[in-house]
Amino acid sequence: MVEMNSRKAAIIGCGFVGSASAFSLMESHLFSEIVLIDADKDRAEGEALDISHGLPFSKPMQIYAGTYQDISDAAVVIVTAGAGQKPGETRLDLVKKNVAIFKSIIPEVAKYNRSGILLIVANPVDILTYVAKQLSGYPSNRVFGSGTVLDTARLKYMLGEHLGVDSRSIHAFIIGEHGDSEIAAWSSANVSGVPLFKFCNMRGHFHEEETSRRIAEEVKNSAYEIIKRKKATYYGIAMSVKRICEAIVRDEKSILPVSSIQNSEKINGVALSMPAIVGKHGVEGQVPIELSDEERAALQRSADTLKAVLNDVLE
Ligand code: 2OP
Repeated sequence: MVEMNSRKAAIIGCGFVGSASAFSLMESHLFSEIVLIDADKDRAEGEALDISHGLPFSKPMQIYAGTYQDISDAAVVIVTAGAGQKPGETRLDLVKKNVAIFKSIIPEVAKYNRSGILLIVANPVDILTYVAKQLSGYPSNRVFGSGTVLDTARLKYMLGEHLGVDSRSIHAFIIGEHGDSEIAAWSSANVSGVPLFKFCNMRGHFHEEETSRRIAEEVKNSAYEIIKRKKATYYGIAMSVKRICEAIVRDEKSILPVSSIQNSEKINGVALSMPAIVGKHGVEGQVPIELSDEERAALQRSADTLKAVLNDVLE
């Protein structure tokens, strides 16, 4: 049995998202070793060299292009490989291409790395998280996706701007699919314990229904807007990857809306985002936040949408 190195990560896929994640992780000082793997070895080597040249301004660590053998002791394996959305494409449009890519990658990961955490970032992240769990044979706690961690950050950012308050004091979640059927869980949203809509009134904002609808739409369409302008999104997701790795490496037991396989009575056999406790064992527990009837129905629709895609992919 290979002894795991809790300060070692691997990144599979060195496109915009993989390389921005590598840079963000280097800056975070969380890992002392990062292995980069890409189907294009030159690309992985180039990224590793470029990031290494900044190390004299950071802290010592090893970052290098490697092979699947090199990941055997990596505590976290981050999978960003796959086609990205093009302007006009939804995340679900990527499913066939990226499932095929996962069929070649995940068995290789599982062959060499038996007890690390698989963090899925490629899209459609919820479908690929489910597929990665099936292909790897890992227990569900060790396979999860970045899910709506980024969407939740976008929501907090926009609410923070709207209310003129630090986005970190806002507690609100986007749940469900990381994509078009996602849900803003307004009923549990609060600013440091003050119910969100009450806080809006305190700050002189009285059109909360209309504003919350607009902000939820803006959050949902964020990636489309960014892709329209710069062809890809990568910094936001890279910082989300860093935040998730922080919770794992530091065993923080942080509550993050990662995508994991659901096992409730109504929603099961599908991966989607719900707040979960994240620590060194991966997803260590689900946090079933209170939802309104409307939110619960929307979550069920989101799960049904994902399940229909999964059925299509798995047949
Ligand atoms: C994002 O939301 C495209 O999933 C990526 O930025």
